[in-house]
Amino acid sequence: MSINESVAFVTGANGGLGECFVRTLLARGAAKVYAAARRIDALNYDDPRVCVVELDVTNPAQIARAAALARDTTLLVNNAGLNRLEPALACSDMQAARAEMEVNYFGPLMMIRAFSPAMEAGSTIVNVLSILARVTLPSMATLCASKAAALRMAEGAHAELAPRGVRVISVLPGAIDTAMSRDFPPPKLAPADVVEAVLNALGGEASEIYVGDMAAQVAAGLATDRQATQRYLASAA
Ligand SMILES: NC(=O)c1ccc[n+]([C@@H]2O[C@H](COP(=O)([O-])OP(=O)(O)OC[C@H]3O[C@@H](n4cnc5c(N)ncnc54)[C@H](OP(=O)(O)O)[C@@H]3O)[C@@H](O)[C@H]2O)c1
Repeated sequence: MSINESVAFVTGANGGLGECFVRTLLARGAAKVYAAARRIDALNYDDPRVCVVELDVTNPAQIARAAALARDTTLLVNNAGLNRLEPALACSDMQAARAEMEVNYFGPLMMIRAFSPAMEAGSTIVNVLSILARVTLPSMATLCASKAAALRMAEGAHAELAPRGVRVISVLPGAIDTAMSRDFPPPKLAPADVVEAVLNALGGEASEIYVGDMAAQVAAGLATDRQATQRYLASAA
């Protein structure tokens, strides 16, 4: 699909990768960008093509309102995400696991269910996942589980929407230099490089986009020896 003249809807648009998506889409000629965030006073876009939308992706009523408002969306970017940096067992309760599932899995699922009925042939849905959708870092195992669930869901949505000509794409980057990964060691991808890679891939056929060397290496490792790759990541964490 062409970015020029597209109408995009970006969740989590108040910073990090989401803000970078909005600014790059505008720079590349999008006709309109719905910039959605939990707190719209945190949005600071000085462009008449931007329409700000209050949206918590765990709130069904807000999602329904956003979908009704943005029926002209041709590119939905499910970017909002949460990483509570918790292991599966050595944490005090289930709060982090449930919160990550709500934001990273049920959020995009509800968004796709709400937005896709109005989307026309040629439209695209982008889900920002992580290479951790395909492997587990034990120190953030519940995040990995939520992104893995979202990857499976996206595959199902892709199959269901393909007959209508609507594509669903999953983005699997390595670490990105944003607030979420502030305590991660380098190397980290620049948000602008991730967004460029995603937008450039929209013209192709791929339904999974691996961004950066780390993601490419993990994907290659999984293809050759899944268990060894998982063992390596478990020991590195
Ligand atoms: N940073 C990395 O290393 C990395 C690597 C791979 C994938 N990713 C993915 O990239 C995406 C963007 O993350 P980021 O790196 O830009 O991190 P970030 O700066 O922490 O941004 C996360 C965004 O998600 C929003 N969000 C969280 N919960 C939400 C909710 N319930 N409803 C609506 N918005 C919500 C946040 O809004 P608030 O400010 O209101 O919390 C924020 O705008 C995420 O899906 C993340 O999992 C990040």
